[in-house]
Amino acid sequence: MADTKHYSELGLVNTKEMFAKAMAGGYAIPAYNFNNMEQLQGIIIGCVESRSPVILQVSGSARKYADATFLPYMATGAVQMAKALDAQIPIALHLDHGNSFELAKACIDSGFSSVMLDGSHHPFDENAALTRQVVEYAHERDVTVEGELGVLAGVEDEVSHEVSHYTKPEEVEAFVEKTGVDSLAISIGTSHGAHKFKVKPGEEVPPLRFDILEEIEKRVPGFPIVLHGASSVEPEYVKMINTFGGKMEDAVGIPEEQLRKAAASAVCKINIDSDGRLAMTAVIRKVLAENPAEFDPRKYLGPARDELIKMIKYKNEHVLGSAKKA
Ligand code: G3H
Ligand code: 13P
Ligand code: ZN
Repeated sequence: MADTKHYSELGLVNTKEMFAKAMAGGYAIPAYNFNNMEQLQGIIIGCVESRSPVILQVSGSARKYADATFLPYMATGAVQMAKALDAQIPIALHLDHGNSFELAKACIDSGFSSVMLDGSHHPFDENAALTRQVVEYAHERDVTVEGELGVLAGVEDEVSHEVSHYTKPEEVEAFVEKTGVDSLAISIGTSHGAHKFKVKPGEEVPPLRFDILEEIEKRVPGFPIVLHGASSVEPEYVKMINTFGGKMEDAVGIPEEQLRKAAASAVCKINIDSDGRLAMTAVIRKVLAENPAEFDPRKYLGPARDELIKMIKYKNEHVLGSAKKA
């Protein structure tokens, strides 16, 4: 059996204070997904250089990829690196789209400071019961829990949905009350992955349903809301990928302006995975296409990490508003 660690031993924090400050300050905490060392370092350096609090996010499949035993040591490395860079930024380690009590428990026991139980594809009562079970275990250990109501289109960690179902505002109050969750992910028109909308050239992407968000805010005033599927899918990176041998057609994301508006509202956590993947892939493709004899991983992973740092600083400073809040 893996040894049990509490997140506080690793220098991590839960999301409670981060969200309270983000709510009061009208900005959102970035939640960036990672699977490997270069991504993790890129996220930490980007957040240290912009002095932003950060949620390091790991899906169940990312945890398998990086190795469940190895992962807490990666998080420890990230905390220590931030310290060595002389930064006191709050860092949370969060399970993204947890699909069972057993997975959430295993993460909590190995040092995660926050977990998501995504029961959004279950009927309301089943979702609430499963989420409640995780909340009881988590809160005894001062770990924060994110729940989800409403279904996003796209892939949510091995579960793929063709169509989205917007969150029903009338269900939110009862869900929050029954489960005791610390934050709630909602569905207002975002979706996972790099192909969020089907739009013809020159057409605008459909705006997010801010009317639903406002209705939710009225029903649970001051409660932290989470936005998944919030990558902007920068055309610059898509073009680079396609120029250097890739094939990404019709990749479209959420306009930055919509995310700024969301960050200023009760949305306290904004999830970004695809944008980091695109930035790194674009640079790796360019370096390898221009230097076909290159075979030292540092020569392509290094520039990819630099690009990720640049992207993260830009998002924290100009989109989420979390820069200088640590
Ligand atoms: O919402 C899903 C995240 O982008 C994680 O994706 O399951 O491929 O790690 P993944
Ligand atoms: P993107 O695919 O838009 O980056 O969304 C990531 C996400 O929601 C992770 O939970
Ligand atoms: Zn998600």
